[in-house]
Amino acid sequence: MKKISVQTGGKLYLAGEYAILTPGQTAIIKNIPIYMTAQVREANQLQLKSDMFDYAVDMSADKGYALIQESVQTFALFLGKTVEALAPFELSISGKLEKNGKKFGIGSSGSVTVLTIKALATFFDTPLTKDQIFKLAAYTLLKLGDNGSMGDIACIAYNDLVAYTSFDRETISDLILEKSLTELLAMDWGYEIVTIVPQLKAEFLVGWTAQPTLSSQMIKDLKSHLSVNFSSQTQKQVLALKSALQAGDRDTLVRSLETVSDLLVSLSPAIYTDKLKTLKEAAEGLEVVAKSSGAGGGDCGIAISLNPAHTTLLKQRWKDAGIDLLYQESWSTCQI
Ligand code: PMV
Ligand code: MG
Repeated sequence: MKKISVQTGGKLYLAGEYAILTPGQTAIIKNIPIYMTAQVREANQLQLKSDMFDYAVDMSADKGYALIQESVQTFALFLGKTVEALAPFELSISGKLEKNGKKFGIGSSGSVTVLTIKALATFFDTPLTKDQIFKLAAYTLLKLGDNGSMGDIACIAYNDLVAYTSFDRETISDLILEKSLTELLAMDWGYEIVTIVPQLKAEFLVGWTAQPTLSSQMIKDLKSHLSVNFSSQTQKQVLALKSALQAGDRDTLVRSLETVSDLLVSLSPAIYTDKLKTLKEAAEGLEVVAKSSGAGGGDCGIAISLNPAHTTLLKQRWKDAGIDLLYQESWSTCQI
């Protein structure tokens, strides 16, 4: 019996949050190797299971499974078939990115779309490029009215540190109604995804506040606060950060991350909760830069430490403040 298994990781924003919602802006997003798994095997009838829920479904509309079901629809459409015409399979998803029922905030609702599409492509022997995976996942999310920038799925589809320049989601959403999926996939959507290899010796750390937050709601609340000034200043720093990572320029790296963090503070007080403030302040006096990541209001923050002794101090400060070290990774100067 045919059975396959695939994984997708998580992601966290380093810089460019909120500004990336404006088409043409850039964000830097880091893959986090904490994985979700999907298994697909032959079955008598189509069945979808996720450890997020205590029940399984077929393709009958179900709120909990809507994203997974829509991803299955997209994949069938990509093959030029109806879902009923596909050989029946059982898809099981596991590895919810959470602890004690509280999500880490490193995945996103979007990750399951990438995971489902990758799993079905493997099961049905249909190799897809990273860009095809990204576009198919974005197509699925847009159809469901997702209000995000798609930066999350860009990073998760590439499973790498990326600089993502966003496309105009309104234009593509309109085109979904007019064009076939094949036509849409052949089009240039105007986004760019470039992988970045950091050229500096540093420790990358993720701190978890254990306070879950909903990005879609934060976007709704803050969208009207976005200004041209915020976007252009953020863009300048994001591009500076990108070059600093590639050139191993420590000073610019710290300065650009500090500045995007200040810009987020100025955007809304809702972003830096007390715990995220503590997470950031723990870097004070150290050769470390720390900030909230993503929508803010909870979830995770990130830190980049340029001094091993200071990494230890930061970790102790986080621990004392009840911030969990979710992930740590060493960067060296030569990763190519
Ligand atoms: O909280 P996260 O990691 O899902 O990031 C949200 C980032 C935003 O720019 C606020 C929204 C988006 O979709 O880009
Ligand atoms: Mg979040």
